[in-house]
Amino acid sequence: MARVSATGKGLVLGIDIGGSGIKGAPVDLQKGVFARERIRIETPKKSTPQAVAEIVAEVAAGFVDEVGDDSPVGVTVPAVVHHGVTKSAANIDDSWIDADADALFTRVLGRPVVVMNDADAAGQAEMHFGAGRDRDGVVLMTTLGTGIGSALFLDGQLLPNTELGHLELDGKEAEHRAASSVREDKDLSWKEWAKRLQRYYRHLEDLFWPDLFIVGGGVSKEADEFLPLLDLRTEIVPAQLRNDAGIIGAAWAASHQKI
Ligand code: BGC
Repeated sequence: MARVSATGKGLVLGIDIGGSGIKGAPVDLQKGVFARERIRIETPKKSTPQAVAEIVAEVAAGFVDEVGDDSPVGVTVPAVVHHGVTKSAANIDDSWIDADADALFTRVLGRPVVVMNDADAAGQAEMHFGAGRDRDGVVLMTTLGTGIGSALFLDGQLLPNTELGHLELDGKEAEHRAASSVREDKDLSWKEWAKRLQRYYRHLEDLFWPDLFIVGGGVSKEADEFLPLLDLRTEIVPAQLRNDAGIIGAAWAASHQKI
């Protein structure tokens, strides 16, 4: 039931809220690509829902020519999103806990919204347009960034909010040991980081027996540096849409999810 935007161009706006930037673009869902260059605005230092919502509205205002001002918008948040309410805040302001993100974005944008977890959105994009296309069975996408996000699929259907970055690894939360930000902050070599990833992905494959791992996040463009160092029984491949995945997946959800 893909909807067509008010402008009749079939483009849908996706907006991805991250710890450092809020990014949006109109997405061509026939091809799974941006129809125009994205707009990126810095995430406010105090990243409260209200402060972030104002930027989201500013990004959306930049694309009225492409998508109109009344068609559904997909928005991602780096948090558990339960029926439109954000329930966690690992790498954003604590005031997101129990915030009615759906109501807030609907109000500031003046149009229907679909709010979802950032990794779930990235996973949807990879499943439809990237590394997971046409892949049945259990597919587990992880995003390695500031934190670790996860998106779990069975035969293309998402099980939302899996939050596997918070599994325990060596006595700590996995994302505090193995996120891409940890590699940068601790200046770990690829080999040192891969040792941590090895333990993480081995744990994941023992728990879920996936048919495929997809590794996303900006660092996936350097996958050749670390994926060959991993010894897993599960096939593991880099994401194809890189940092565009959140926006594309959010737009996809806005046009396919009941609102
Ligand atoms: C959050 C997840 C998010 C991931 C990636 C984690 O800390 O708990 O909700 O998907 O970071 O941003």
